[in-house]
Amino acid sequence: MDGVTDYPFRHITKKYGNPDIMFTEFVSVDGLVREVPRLFQEFRYDAQDHPIVAQIFGTHPENFYRSTVLLCSMGFDGIDINMGCPAKSVEERGGGAGLIQNPLLAKQIIQSVQQAISDYHNGYQSPLFQSLFIPSSSIARPITCSVKTRIGYQHNEVESWILKLLEAQPDRIEIHGRTFTQQYGGKANWEAITQAALLCHQASVSCFGNGDIISFHDAQEKAARYQLDGILIGRASFGNPWVFQASPPDLSWTEKFNVMLEHARFYEHAYPDRFFLPMRKHLGWYVKGHPHAKELREQLYLTNSSQDVAKVLKKFTE
Ligand SMILES: Cc1cc2nc3c(=O)[nH]c(=O)nc-3n(C[C@H](O)[C@H](O)[C@H](O)COP(=O)(O)O)c2cc1C
Repeated sequence: MDGVTDYPFRHITKKYGNPDIMFTEFVSVDGLVREVPRLFQEFRYDAQDHPIVAQIFGTHPENFYRSTVLLCSMGFDGIDINMGCPAKSVEERGGGAGLIQNPLLAKQIIQSVQQAISDYHNGYQSPLFQSLFIPSSSIARPITCSVKTRIGYQHNEVESWILKLLEAQPDRIEIHGRTFTQQYGGKANWEAITQAALLCHQASVSCFGNGDIISFHDAQEKAARYQLDGILIGRASFGNPWVFQASPPDLSWTEKFNVMLEHARFYEHAYPDRFFLPMRKHLGWYVKGHPHAKELREQLYLTNSSQDVAKVLKKFTE
């Protein structure tokens, strides 16, 4: 998730939640082929983070091809194509949810990613980021091609939209039960999600559902009820890496504070040249439900280092 599921977030999530699969933030394929160094950093991960999927967005099949070869040589377990982002900057240029209105291009993009995975397996190596990364020899492990999308642009268009995607036979479709125009309003439409799952299964394609899931048990119940192969949990994981556990631990605030501090320290260690600012929102999410959440948040939003965080947390521990 853009601006949230960065390398430190994924590290903490894996350690305390251990989800079955994790996705990177989405990254522009146009930026990747221009070799913007910062974008390369978005794809950091550690061995224990597998299986991990790289998510990319854009509109140029050629750039999807080149980005996919790079990501395959970086060891990702899958390449996920974003066809659901409602952000103006992405959608108005025809990417993200904009692709729902251009199924022909969507299909070409899937085919480019599939071709790149196949060429990588046949030994083709990426020339991108040579100064930052030395590709290893290609490995014959399966790498999936998946699509993350929504149920339609303005209305539920699952029948036509999903069938179009299935023509390209991706390995998996992940579907958020809202339309583009809904953005994040209203409730996820799980009937439409199950409609998509049925079509996917007829084509022997996996289907994951997504939208408003709040716990592992909620996910399990929805997966069974709506015949899904998996569930993606998004916002409920903010400040709550334990959400992926079947029996989340009943933690004291001191224990939670320790994880917050660990997260802040890992962030600094991972990104020594970056501002601390993007870390603050995570700290704010962790303290949801604390009896002094408001004061705590006010002070955490002023921190500029993990040392500052430690000082604030100490005040609220005593
Ligand atoms: C801050 C934010 C960033 C997001 N970034 C992405 C993204 O990069 N790629 C993506 O596929 N979906 C992204 N999403 C959408 C989520 O993946 C998910 O589909 C949506 O939040 C609904 O699921 P949830 O109710 O479990 O959060 C983002 C959502 C939010 C709130």
